[in-house]
Amino acid sequence: MVGARNRLLLRRHSRNIVTTCIVIIFLVVAYTYFSNDLRPDNAFLQITDYEIEARVVNEEILKIKPLETKNPKVAFLFLTPDPLPFEKLWDTFFEGHEGKFSVYVHMPNEKPVHKSRYFVSREIRSKPVRWGSISTVEAERRLLANALLDPDNQHFVLLSDSCIPVRNFEFVYNYLLLANVSFIECYVDPGIHGNGRYIENMLPEVEQKDFRKGSQWFSMKRKHAIMVMADSLYFTKFKLHCRPKKKGQNCFASEHYLPTFFNMFDPSGIAKWSVTFVDWSEGKWHPRFFKVHDVTSKLLNTISSIDESVHYTSDSKRSVLVTPCIWNGSKRPCFLFARIFYPRTLDRLMHLFSNFTT
Ligand SMILES: *[C@@H]1O[C@H](CO)[C@@H](O)[C@H](O)[C@H]1NC(C)=O
Ligand SMILES: *[C@@H]1O[C@H](CO)[C@@H](O)[C@H](O)[C@H]1NC(C)=O
Repeated sequence: MVGARNRLLLRRHSRNIVTTCIVIIFLVVAYTYFSNDLRPDNAFLQITDYEIEARVVNEEILKIKPLETKNPKVAFLFLTPDPLPFEKLWDTFFEGHEGKFSVYVHMPNEKPVHKSRYFVSREIRSKPVRWGSISTVEAERRLLANALLDPDNQHFVLLSDSCIPVRNFEFVYNYLLLANVSFIECYVDPGIHGNGRYIENMLPEVEQKDFRKGSQWFSMKRKHAIMVMADSLYFTKFKLHCRPKKKGQNCFASEHYLPTFFNMFDPSGIAKWSVTFVDWSEGKWHPRFFKVHDVTSKLLNTISSIDESVHYTSDSKRSVLVTPCIWNGSKRPCFLFARIFYPRTLDRLMHLFSNFTT
């Protein structure tokens, strides 16, 4: 009798052990399954509501097929404090191409006496601009917004008062409109004038790994201009935290906002160089200024035949990054415009420009 009772107890015991094991296995599996969703590296838990919204808006804009208009135009956006010294040169550049371009001028100071009919009444409502600060970016956005009102404007070029064309209109028009990318300089500078300007207050939206540098002189497709209009999240981050001369931080929104923004949202949709040439090779605090005696046909030929873009970094190695300019899959000259030219070079430039064939 006792033996039978013990066997019965033992059987019950082992049944309990098996049940307990099954329950434990079930719990472990369930925990692993559900906790996968709760792990901190889950993408949706890591990013903020605003970031998800920005991602959705940008991805949708990128999917939109560009609207084909009968008269596609290039919008020339001039950002200048004072009257443009090279209006006469631009007049020669534009002449005979009416209907294929539009001009917008952001000029907060005095009202000019125009030298060219193409600039008459083309000023937009402007506000003062402090070099390198977010007010520069605000002026760029103002120019883009005004130019976007015209649906024929398909490509938007930002130019300064010291910029000149180094190609003729036909070449510029085809180069920009037929390109499948925007031209926004964008590179990593590990040094003090690059990543050294990054500030952690830009987190969580802007991480150091996404931070980029580039010239402010962009040219962009309409869809990219719309993305800039739609953005307030990243713009606000730069407005609050990327400020010239700010203590412990000397950040220039005009050199970081757009390169960082497009690096995050459409890195393959931008060529990583600017179509506006500038010469940093002297290694000074500012790029080279071209004076009257520098301006020769040789100089202009040299600039217009460059087919590799060069970026200088500010790290201790002072590396020079050289990349070929790839336009729609093949290597082509990089530059359509150039700066910085002194106003007094105008007469020589006018003379040389009349011989431009391309
Ligand atoms: C770009 O390149 C592709 C492939 O070579 C070609 O089919 C297309 O026509 C080119 N686009 C332009 C605008 O030249
Ligand atoms: C632009 O065109 C080239 C050549 O057809 C192609 O390799 C490249 O992926 C295109 N880029 C974009 C952003 O469409």
